[in-house]
Amino acid sequence: MATTFPEGFLWGSATASHQVEGNNHNNDWWQWETAHPEMIDDASRSGAACAWWTGRAEEDLAQAAALGQNAHRLSLEWSRLEPEPGRFDDAAFARYREILTHMHALGLMPFVTLYHFTLPQWAAAMGGWTNPTLITHLARFAKVCATRLGDLVRFWITINEPMVLAFQAYAGRRWPPGIGRFDAGVQALRHLLRAHAAAYHAVKQAQPAAQVGIALNVPYFAPARASHPLDRLVARAQDWLFNGMKLRALGQGAFVPPLGWPVEQVPDIAQTFDFLGLNFYGRYDVRFDWRMPGMLFGRHVQQPTVRLEHNDWGQPDPTAFAASLRRLAKHGKPVYVTENGVLDNADDDQLRQRVLLQMVGALKRLLHEGIDVRGYFFWSLVDNYEWAEGWRARFGLIGVNPYTQARFLKPSAHLYAAICRGEIDVEEVG
Ligand code: FCB
Repeated sequence: MATTFPEGFLWGSATASHQVEGNNHNNDWWQWETAHPEMIDDASRSGAACAWWTGRAEEDLAQAAALGQNAHRLSLEWSRLEPEPGRFDDAAFARYREILTHMHALGLMPFVTLYHFTLPQWAAAMGGWTNPTLITHLARFAKVCATRLGDLVRFWITINEPMVLAFQAYAGRRWPPGIGRFDAGVQALRHLLRAHAAAYHAVKQAQPAAQVGIALNVPYFAPARASHPLDRLVARAQDWLFNGMKLRALGQGAFVPPLGWPVEQVPDIAQTFDFLGLNFYGRYDVRFDWRMPGMLFGRHVQQPTVRLEHNDWGQPDPTAFAASLRRLAKHGKPVYVTENGVLDNADDDQLRQRVLLQMVGALKRLLHEGIDVRGYFFWSLVDNYEWAEGWRARFGLIGVNPYTQARFLKPSAHLYAAICRGEIDVEEVG
């Protein structure tokens, strides 16, 4: 029986430049992996990654199309396209044109992210997102990209997960530049949201018909003990810090940091999106812990009933996923799931298959409710270089051996193909 997904619904998968292209030696992540192997769980480096830049993109994307997908989300590597401030590289633009042209030939609608975590080294040397100058740099980059690639790209995503970046790299120490100060995190988020708005306008100016959005990681924060007042309080505080703050800025143009920081009116940011992208991985169960001021006194705990290899991404809960989607849909614009997936290192990927079915079941429920969700991008098409987790954390539908570049299809790749083709009737959940 065919599923009820509407005609034209986009079914795809997602990747990001540094994680798949290989040899992005001119960005801050390459520098970080090289200088700080101790910051990468398995001390691995991105290296050749999935060798997309040197030709493998075509093959993997052809596989995606053969598996029934009709869209793909990828990102442009800023350090390749603008290796020095104001100097744009024709050969790099030509390579992206080649990949994007190939995607159209395969029937894959491109969703293109302008900035997915990696900064050119020159921008990192300016202090990264602590420096407001980057706002105009990103806007210029966006304008050049829309001008030179706009004939091949209708859907643009300005920035991937600004809050995750601010949290990991500026408030935290796990990602470059690893500043580790709360105020640096708040400042970076403010600059990233302003850069998003500037990039939004820059793309629209160059390409008025473009659809421009942002990809937001919106997890669900639940009190670990449902009626415990302190658990409830810290879960709400974390939700505000992680979700509420950016959504308020994008929705109403007010930047309201926690802990008594001054409120700033940012009307230029309000409504700078034609759609919202949701990156969803999980639900965090938050328990009050006075020893964790940096986490607003909330520790993430794992319920004894759930077994996962890794809890960093939270519990992959379809009800929580549906709640995050409803929350984004309230902003009145179309919503796309720009990332969803789960860490599963097993080759038979049973967890990944289960999660996939549940999440698609939740999507189906939301469509029945009339929520305007227009597409779903699974993270990821291929196993790839997972930032501070290195090669140790696998998220792909297609398995990749980074040493040999061998590929193999996991069971979830076939399952997802059946979903994309409407061959199985997924049960509604959420
Ligand atoms: C998201 C990132 C993506 C990948 C997945 C697992 O937060 O956007 O690059 O790391 O998590």
